[in-house]
Amino acid sequence: MRNIFIILTFIITGLVSAVMIGFDMDSIQTTKDYDDEQEGLDEQIIIRFSHVVAKNTPKGRTAQRFAELVEDKTNGKVKVHIFPNATLYNDTNEWEAIQNGNVEMIAPATAKLTDRFPTWQVLDLPFAFPTQQAVVAAYEGEIGQTLMEELNGTNVKGMTFWYNNFKQITNQTRPILQPSDFNRLHFRVMPSPVIEEQYDQLNASTSTLPFNKTYRNLEVNFVDGQENTVSNIYTKKFYQHQKYMTISNHAYLGYGVLINREFWDSLSNEVQLSIKDAMQEATEWGRRHSIEMNDKDIRELKLLKTIDIHILSTEERDQWKKALKPVYEKITPIVGNNLMDEIYRIQEEYAY
Ligand code: LMR
Repeated sequence: MRNIFIILTFIITGLVSAVMIGFDMDSIQTTKDYDDEQEGLDEQIIIRFSHVVAKNTPKGRTAQRFAELVEDKTNGKVKVHIFPNATLYNDTNEWEAIQNGNVEMIAPATAKLTDRFPTWQVLDLPFAFPTQQAVVAAYEGEIGQTLMEELNGTNVKGMTFWYNNFKQITNQTRPILQPSDFNRLHFRVMPSPVIEEQYDQLNASTSTLPFNKTYRNLEVNFVDGQENTVSNIYTKKFYQHQKYMTISNHAYLGYGVLINREFWDSLSNEVQLSIKDAMQEATEWGRRHSIEMNDKDIRELKLLKTIDIHILSTEERDQWKKALKPVYEKITPIVGNNLMDEIYRIQEEYAY
């Protein structure tokens, strides 16, 4: 009898607890906040896009444009999360990150692909392109296609090229007008043999440093100078530790826009098409606006009056070209005659 009483007490306590807990769970569910970000979450596709420059630059703004277009064209199914300023990965580890699928997209400067794909050096030849139209002819023509095909066989797929502008030279020591003014100066450069060769020919030395370490190395005078587009010089405040700038337009800074291949192949045809459309529109937008973004930054830089700006004259430019001619000879066996012939053809077509 005592046992039956204990068992009954047990069952009743259990039932009461279950009812109470059940009641409680209900109350939790009815007060749960509605969050539209959670809707269809398992169908949402996230593209993590890492890059090293500021948001307000040709690359930063083209990436932002791309993100908006992708979201629009896929009705919110695909979202692009952008990580600028090397907050996620920098020059030294972004290739591994995309190769391993730790991010889906990166857009390194073309120079930064040359250690893996030496023929990419062709795009960083000094004075390769007389105008931006000449760059477009290379990026969107035979040269661009050949270079992107080199990525076949890796887990990274080339999507397109993005535009920034021509590079200018800054330094802390003296105005640079003649090739001899480079003598014994030390420059930060992007990792690319063709760029190092350029400084070699000018009797200057180089250190290859990641973009996000450049400001600090200028500040502590580890390097005397660097070369970059005005938009990068302005947005990263390199001018704070550089007294002289030469508007040399001596080489072009553009980007290979890359996506993780496994991720790309996992997308439906429909999603791939929308991303391709968004990429084409964003690329055209970037091409149209990159020059004016750099123009705006040079106006701002002039207003600051902290850096002495020299625009290379035609005669000076010819001297630089002559001094740098041997770079072409050195690079031809690496790049091959076909790509070099295409460079010469473009130079002729767009000569001014
Ligand atoms: C640099 O390293 O100087 C540039 O490539 C940065 C960039 O991505 O524009």
